Amino acid sequence: MVERPRRQSAGPMHAEFPSRTALGAALYRAAHQLVDKPPVFEDPLALRIVGEAMAEGLRGGRERHGLPQAAPLRAFIAMRSRYAEDSFAQDHDRGTRQYVLLGAGLDTFAYRQRHRGVTVFEVDHPATQAWKRRLLAESGIAIPESAVYAPVDFEHESLRDGLVRARFDFARRAFFAWLGVTPYLSADAIRRTLFFVAALPSQSEIVFEYAEPRNGDDDAPNRFFAAMSARVAAAGEPFRSFFAPQEMATMLRETGFGEIEDLDCAALNARYFAGRADGLCLRGSAHMIRART
Ligand SMILES: C[S@@+](CC[C@H](N)C(=O)[O-])C[C@H]1O[C@@H](n2cnc3c(N)ncnc32)[C@H](O)[C@@H]1O
Repeated sequence: MVERPRRQSAGPMHAEFPSRTALGAALYRAAHQLVDKPPVFEDPLALRIVGEAMAEGLRGGRERHGLPQAAPLRAFIAMRSRYAEDSFAQDHDRGTRQYVLLGAGLDTFAYRQRHRGVTVFEVDHPATQAWKRRLLAESGIAIPESAVYAPVDFEHESLRDGLVRARFDFARRAFFAWLGVTPYLSADAIRRTLFFVAALPSQSEIVFEYAEPRNGDDDAPNRFFAAMSARVAAAGEPFRSFFAPQEMATMLRETGFGEIEDLDCAALNARYFAGRADGLCLRGSAHMIRART
């Protein structure tokens, strides 16, 4: 059986161990398939990739990811994948054929997507990627030729070097899904990646999330966010960056993006969670960005 990532001490991701937050995000997507009807994000591989033991834990209610108190975070993690994949579907219609997952974790897009002519580049820490490949093998999920692995430890090398090795085509535009990664990075590291994407051929695009700075712990969304921050910090991957919407807009324009969509939780709830009988919705100060050059 493939192992659960080991607990790390606080600090940057350990060189040898896969990301614990990648497993957490995958368990929320898997729980979403079981608990939230109808799912906002349909992923027929979400339960398979976490392995039979964890899937059983979710079915039996033994993992916290399916609990009612986890609903806002589960909703957010499901929605951000839906948002990225909806955005890419539109880009594909306009001719984009390269999809790059930055910090891919256990994302399953590469193994279930049916878009014509697309190459999916999975960029991730080598330890997380090796663990994912063991999980894929163990769960019998086939790796299509259109999936390309680009192992990169951002602490030690650049995204460009990783993509060069993976034969990414720098002459063609690309779509970047950067989900669940930016909150763990410094503003400088985020800026470097934005500059990189903005320098690619016109109409390249990136989707990612950010959170606004907290204003104290006295209301429910903030309490929820504080609990989540404490959990990811305990997993060794603390949140490091927060932005006011105006700061984010300025950074995107300065790094070279022209078209920007910034949706807060109210806008995302209206788009993805309106009229649900189960009341599933987003809370807190997170935003989704879709930015194009
Ligand atoms: C919260 S997970 C998100 C995974 C995935 N995008 C998702 O939404 O499920 C963060 C990802 O960032 C990756 N990561 C963290 N530090 C890294 C580093 N130094 N180099 C490369 N990837 C890193 C982890 O391996 C992990 O896959």
